[in-house]
Amino acid sequence: MNINESIIKVFHSLGDKYISGAELAEKLNVSRATVWNHIKYLRQQGYRFKASTHVGYKLLSVPDRMLPDEIQYELGTRFIGRKKIYSYQEVNSTNDIAIDLASQNAEEGTVVFAEHQRKGRGRFHRRWFSPPTKNILCSIILRPHFQPKKITQLTITAAVAVANSIRSYFDLPALIKWPNDIYIRGKKAGGILIEMNAELDEINFVIVGIGVNVNILRKDIPKSLIKNCTSTRIEAGKKCNRVEFAKALLREFEKQYTILLEDGFDRIGKEWVDLSLTLGKMIEAMTEGEAFVGYPTGLDEDGGLLLRLDTGIIKKVAGGDIRIL
Ligand code: BTN
Repeated sequence: MNINESIIKVFHSLGDKYISGAELAEKLNVSRATVWNHIKYLRQQGYRFKASTHVGYKLLSVPDRMLPDEIQYELGTRFIGRKKIYSYQEVNSTNDIAIDLASQNAEEGTVVFAEHQRKGRGRFHRRWFSPPTKNILCSIILRPHFQPKKITQLTITAAVAVANSIRSYFDLPALIKWPNDIYIRGKKAGGILIEMNAELDEINFVIVGIGVNVNILRKDIPKSLIKNCTSTRIEAGKKCNRVEFAKALLREFEKQYTILLEDGFDRIGKEWVDLSLTLGKMIEAMTEGEAFVGYPTGLDEDGGLLLRLDTGIIKKVAGGDIRIL
């Protein structure tokens, strides 16, 4: 743990109490001048401290930024975000950064956050809209030992984790539009983009890119998206502490990913049923260059969508896009 992390830890444990520079220096085994320099640095980072003669310092507030030290404070995961979290002010895409890190052997569980993406992307090369400092933009590096053809299982697992974390953190009715869209009350609030580096029958690494709209307001959304786009702030009516929600998301992601690896996809599939926006609704699926209309009946063992066509035939939709009719 570096000195800044240790200082933050001490202040968090103090709550509303003051601590003198001398006490802090003694606790951390550094000089008072070092403590002062680090407090100065933390202030530049946006931390607010009250300094009072005789009593010392107390922490007033932490900045609304995706700071790794804050996210890791009492995170409590086993490996997701445990060892290394990177956070950037601006990147092209957090998935690109994660791909570079993974190619240089970054460990499973490494997480990348950004405040803004110049070229945030979604599936089918769509742009991912997110104005700076408002939302959650993150990418998680994984190294699962399963067949590359099972990758949709991971998309579903991530979608279950994102929907569950929105439900429990905000008490909002988040649902999943197969395979990777997160909806709240009929509008999209999040998405997952999985990118994989694999051999024929072995995965080198997978990047799970997650975008969740938390603090954007209606006025922040471009006209072209307003009909189909929302945020937890719009739906719940209150601003979100992004660091706290990011922690909840990483914990839930680790929980669901562990279930997938240890218990298998069956259990994830069962959770998905209760979170599905698509089950029982007539949809059109665009796949393999063709469109199929029917009613989804469930998932196959790989995470593909099973669609009952007019003819009664069950069509397996392995990938592609769907539209609710
Ligand atoms: C989609 O809806 O098609 C998926 C959207 C995924 C967006 C996230 S934001 C963080 C990560 N970086 C990206 O460029 N995309 C994903």
